[in-house]
Amino acid sequence: MYERMPRELTLPTGELLRPFGPADLDQLVDVVNDNLEHLRPWMPWAQQPVTAETQSEFLTASARNWAEGTDFVYGIFAADGTILGGTGLHTRQGPGVLEIGYWVRRDVQGRGLVTAATRVLAEVAASYDEVDTVAIYCDEANVRSAAVPRRLGFTLVGVEEREPLAAGETGWHQVWTMPAAVIRAGWPA
Ligand SMILES: CC(C)(COP(=O)(O)OP(=O)(O)OC[C@H]1O[C@@H](n2cnc3c(N)ncnc32)[C@H](O)[C@@H]1OP(=O)(O)O)[C@@H](O)C(=O)NCCC(=O)NCCS
Repeated sequence: MYERMPRELTLPTGELLRPFGPADLDQLVDVVNDNLEHLRPWMPWAQQPVTAETQSEFLTASARNWAEGTDFVYGIFAADGTILGGTGLHTRQGPGVLEIGYWVRRDVQGRGLVTAATRVLAEVAASYDEVDTVAIYCDEANVRSAAVPRRLGFTLVGVEEREPLAAGETGWHQVWTMPAAVIRAGWPA
């Protein structure tokens, strides 16, 4: 269903979204470990230092998910190939919904990079007739994350309880959504 998912997307400011590949392994290990204190509160996979082995498993799983059309993780890269963060479209909320997730390095926050990447991925999601909703889930304590869907005009439609998986989580997850039809018709002002 998601066979034609684009493997390369360019943000208006020149950064590139593309799947992480084997050549990114060493850089990925370093960027996650250099940002561990920043990521640990919110990212379940960043609870302890990562290794070449754990990240290699991540790359393998991620390539398999791309091939099977079940999950689409993108790295966010500067024009020179430096990893700035990660994002993705996830099918885990079930038919009709694509969920967007994201993280960036601490030192590139505050530039609008994640807002721009989310906007581009939401447009990709809405390009599928089968998708009726684009969703973003974030713990209610993660104020900076919630600001991304709010800034883009998503609606907070509920709060769901979930077992905390990362150090800063309360377990209460905000659900932000945007109807795909609204994106197809042009974004809200
Ligand atoms: C959550 C996270 C991705 C948000 O990053 P961010 O830098 O706040 O988001 P953006 O890149 O969209 O930048 C928004 C900021 O840039 C500013 N900005 C500058 N130019 C902008 C533009 N053209 N468009 C939008 N915002 C812009 C905004 O005003 C905002 O600044 P502020 O923080 O002073 O209000 C980041 O904090 C992070 O990686 N956290 C750790 C991991 C995490 O929590 N992931 C989410 C799990 S649900």
